[in-house]
Amino acid sequence: MRVLIIGATGGIGEALARQVAGRAEQLWLHGRNAEALRALAWELRAHPIVADLGSEEAVRAMMSQAGPIDRLIYAAGAVARQALREHDEPTWHAVWTANFEGARRVLRFAQWQPRARALFLGVYPDYVRVPGLGAYATSKAALEELLGVARKEWRAEGIRFILARLPAVRTPLWNPLGSPPRNALEPDAIAARLWELLEQEDVPDVISL
Ligand SMILES: NC(=O)c1ccc[n+]([C@@H]2O[C@H](COP(=O)([O-])OP(=O)(O)OC[C@H]3O[C@@H](n4cnc5c(N)ncnc54)[C@H](OP(=O)(O)O)[C@@H]3O)[C@@H](O)[C@H]2O)c1
Repeated sequence: MRVLIIGATGGIGEALARQVAGRAEQLWLHGRNAEALRALAWELRAHPIVADLGSEEAVRAMMSQAGPIDRLIYAAGAVARQALREHDEPTWHAVWTANFEGARRVLRFAQWQPRARALFLGVYPDYVRVPGLGAYATSKAALEELLGVARKEWRAEGIRFILARLPAVRTPLWNPLGSPPRNALEPDAIAARLWELLEQEDVPDVISL
């Protein structure tokens, strides 16, 4: 099995990389921080790919390097707290790039093995439709629509696009918001469950953890 994890140096991405290492024949790990990525890839005997998801060329090169994949896990993401009347363009775009534009570019250039599956990490919309999270809430909602279209465009080829709604998980994603809630789950536990669900025979399009 050929697996590509996007955002593998993030909290959930790294936990997933550790979960998948040893199960995949070929494991490709993507990250933006070259030093951290190379150390992780070396430890897990995986192939590192450094790319900024904001660059179409970088994403094209990444997907070409990874080649046809059986499992794609999109674990990149970003959040910011800014009121709509105060938000600045670079911050808004950084959040949209990580949560939506990067995913759109990955789908644009992905090559699939037969019956491939792609997993994207989403939210419970009611939890994020709150003051200050405009960029996060809207980019995650757009991602869901993108996956709805992708399911139809690739249906004939049998490619599955799965959205996992996650509760709060203790990762650096929370840094711009302060700290995670006390009941946040640990990334290792979430990663194990995600991989188990992704490998289920009859996995639904949307899964809630
Ligand atoms: N943690 C939660 O409570 C929670 C809940 C629901 C859904 N999710 C979703 O789960 C996913 C993973 O979240 P996480 O908690 O693991 O977050 P995280 O620890 O902050 O990791 C996110 C990763 O995305 C990377 N990234 C951001 N922008 C990028 C860009 N332009 N190019 C390349 N890489 C970029 C980051 O790279 P750098 O390290 O270089 O910035 C980081 O490695 C996200 O989509 C998030 O929305 C998380």
